[in-house]
Amino acid sequence: MSIPPAGKLPLPELAEMKRRGERIVVVTAYDSPGARFAEDAGVDMLLVGDTAAMVVLGHEGTTVPVTVDEMLFLTRSVARAARRPIIIADMPFGSYQVSDEDAVRNAIRFVKEAGADVVKLEGAGPSLSRIRAIVGAGIPVMGHIGLTPQSKTILGGFRTQGRTGREALELVNAARELEAAGCFSLVLEAIPSPVGARITERVSIPTIGIGAGPDCDGQVLVYHDLLGLSEGHLPRFVKRYASLSREIRDALEAYAGEVRSGAFPDDEHAYEMSEEELALFEQALGGGR
Ligand code: KIV
Repeated sequence: MSIPPAGKLPLPELAEMKRRGERIVVVTAYDSPGARFAEDAGVDMLLVGDTAAMVVLGHEGTTVPVTVDEMLFLTRSVARAARRPIIIADMPFGSYQVSDEDAVRNAIRFVKEAGADVVKLEGAGPSLSRIRAIVGAGIPVMGHIGLTPQSKTILGGFRTQGRTGREALELVNAARELEAAGCFSLVLEAIPSPVGARITERVSIPTIGIGAGPDCDGQVLVYHDLLGLSEGHLPRFVKRYASLSREIRDALEAYAGEVRSGAFPDDEHAYEMSEEELALFEQALGGGR
């Protein structure tokens, strides 16, 4: 495997953080400014999530339509700006379901063409052989179980998973299978807190929760959700740390108002010309049109 560039958080450090009980901080990122803000805030990993379909690309209520090329474009923008955080490229629906070969080919594109450090894919079962193949090609893989949005239709919508004893046990087994297949970490999405806690105890790789309770080894939230850029209904697990959509709307309304009234641009935001050069200019124009 290649040596990470200087300053990059070494991947094995994540397992050490779990051992020391130090929480791992993850946030999604889709562009260079977001990546820079997150790195400056000390975030450990940046997930270029396929939530981009909804929060960036305007698809309503589904991550399925985002393409490999769109995800490569977004991952490049993040990778150009972030130095220390580990960059996770989320493999979109269709990029790993067909065959192990397809999965490896697409995972290589994310690393080689877009600068991702690792990839993430959803599910256990059929995903296990994909994970073994990608890890076998030298690319670290993050797993993702619980609510797996690419399987939203089969799951019956964006619903909490693992609420019955049987389903919770299936999730524990899936987590252990994903660890055995070679995942370096697991996202646990929308499951009851005790299930998140039991999975976290029973695997040696770090768990990153999103609606999986406080006992996971780390947490991830979607950038637009935590900053209050998303509007409309949000899942219960989202905590908003800012209300940026309000600020953006106010600022755009103020701008539109000032352009229409002529208040913008004022002298402070305009360039001057010396009297002398202006006179020469007017003379050259000859007063005509
Ligand atoms: O795509 C994404 O942003 C994700 C997170 C919700 C974990 O998979």
